[in-house]
Amino acid sequence: MTIQQAIWQTRREYLGTCRPELPVSFFNPATLTDTAQEFRTGFPGLVSYAVKANPDANVLRCLVAAGVNAFDVASPVEIDLVRSVAPLATLHYHNPVRSVNEVKHAVRNGVRSYSVDRPAELEKLLAHIPEGSEISVRLKLDLAGAAYDFGAKFGAEPDMCVSLLRRVQECGHQTSMTFHPGTQCTDPQTWAVYIAQCALIEKQSGCKLYRLNVGGGFPSHRGHEKPTLTPIFYTIKQAVLQYFPNNAPDLVCEPGRAMVADAFSLAICVKALSDNIIFANDGLYGGLSEFRDTIGQVERYQAIQHQKSSNSKELQNYTVFGPTCDSLDQLPAPLCLPIDIAEGDYILFENMGAYTHAIATQFNGYGNTKYVTITNY
Ligand SMILES: Cc1ncc(COP(=O)(O)O)c(C=O)c1O
Repeated sequence: MTIQQAIWQTRREYLGTCRPELPVSFFNPATLTDTAQEFRTGFPGLVSYAVKANPDANVLRCLVAAGVNAFDVASPVEIDLVRSVAPLATLHYHNPVRSVNEVKHAVRNGVRSYSVDRPAELEKLLAHIPEGSEISVRLKLDLAGAAYDFGAKFGAEPDMCVSLLRRVQECGHQTSMTFHPGTQCTDPQTWAVYIAQCALIEKQSGCKLYRLNVGGGFPSHRGHEKPTLTPIFYTIKQAVLQYFPNNAPDLVCEPGRAMVADAFSLAICVKALSDNIIFANDGLYGGLSEFRDTIGQVERYQAIQHQKSSNSKELQNYTVFGPTCDSLDQLPAPLCLPIDIAEGDYILFENMGAYTHAIATQFNGYGNTKYVTITNY
């Protein structure tokens, strides 16, 4: 059975006509197609999509149609999901810690590319993957530039990378490297420093790098100013020319956030109001879960009012609570909204495609969302 998704022209049209009670996630496939195109034409290598950012089957289908046929997967469920949509896609299993059963599942499903950052996990892989697989050693450096530090959990220090690469080579697998500069990274130089260090590690290890995966981390449009990807692509290209003057590795990137964030917006409804407090139908346990973290609130939002009670253009700050009974379910900063916003009106956030409903909970029975495809804004 195919579930038909509602397709509407604009978000206002849908909200005005349907007055939904659930939070609404609006998907604009044209935006996703354009972003995929931007990566495919601008990035000097293979573009692989990090499924974790938004594993929606419609997103995967849209990316495949836009020419993306490589995917970074982090679990057997993500492997199965991509295989169900794109049976022949290339999969990179870049969660560097896996159980034996997870490795076996990947091997059965044709995964030939893995990342690793510690000796015990490498030995686990070596015992189960076919010879000639690609193993990317994941480097971590202590650098600023991203919204938070991805090296706190994964990644090996440079010396450890050298010994892991040698072991990979000794076992007849393809030696590659990978790193992740941290999500929402706005400083192109972060990539350059990582690339320089990878070149040094290649030299010290004596293991030719087959590929260099420069991670995700590309920034999306959360604040008022839109970050541009071009300077990052340019810096990566220049750094590879500079630090790998002879025989540079092929490049791979695996964006999650920057690929999918702009393709979705989220409308939450005002359930109740008192003075300058809004009780909304979604919050930190649902689609706004990232707002609580160091990444912060999306600054691009607007009120969608149905029956304005006045001609006033006056704005005021509102404290916004989510629908659960937990008093922690409160947006970290107030929202500046019309003084006459009313029960039943909506607050529409842009840039809500990444790490929103993928990490939402069902706490207190909330967390369900209506998905609507739009053709325009
Ligand atoms: C291995 C790996 N690749 C890519 C990504 C995507 O990162 P981003 O969404 O910042 O582009 C992640 C995110 O956690 C990751 O762990």
